[in-house]
Amino acid sequence: MKTILIIGSARRNGDTAKISTLLQKETHWETLNLSDYTISHYDYEHKNAGDDFLPLIEKIVHQYDRFIFATPVYWYSMSGIMKVFFDRLSDLVTIRKDLGRALKGKQMAVISSSAGDNLGEQFWLPFSRSAEYLEMVFIQGLHTELIDDKISSKEKARILSFVETVQNFKVL
Ligand SMILES: Cc1cc2nc3c(=O)[nH]c(=O)nc-3n(C[C@H](O)[C@H](O)[C@H](O)COP(=O)(O)O)c2cc1C
Repeated sequence: MKTILIIGSARRNGDTAKISTLLQKETHWETLNLSDYTISHYDYEHKNAGDDFLPLIEKIVHQYDRFIFATPVYWYSMSGIMKVFFDRLSDLVTIRKDLGRALKGKQMAVISSSAGDNLGEQFWLPFSRSAEYLEMVFIQGLHTELIDDKISSKEKARILSFVETVQNFKVL
């Protein structure tokens, strides 16, 4: 199963990047950084259909079966850059339904990072419900806590356990 790690943070060398580097070291997951693309806010009139979103999603939808989203926690939610990406998934149920249908049965998991452990279960809802809507399979979400911008050995063990769960995940 081919997996892609999709990173959405407002800084390239921050905490989410550190988690992503660890994930890359421990897996063969390919990586995509949303900061490398121009993806504008959802537009009901689809005047932005010429930006990077559709070519990008077209490529990854056909190339990968498992999507891992890595986001920092900004104001109790996913990052803005990640939310814009999720909003644009609406293009896949409007102007590119073929791509939306191609997501059916694919898997999704999420890893988040912040300097605290204060997230409620509702943090995962936009991901798990979006997966459900798109008929994808939501595997799990893992929140990681970085202290002084460092991944502790305890957090590393939790991240490795997340990797194992994701990689061994089988749809019943
Ligand atoms: C705009 C913004 C909002 C934030 N909101 C929260 C928050 O609601 N809860 C929290 O625990 N940390 C919050 N933080 C702290 C970040 O989650 C934390 O520093 C994270 O590890 C940063 O990851 P990054 O380096 O990939 O941006 C916020 C940081 C920023 C910049």
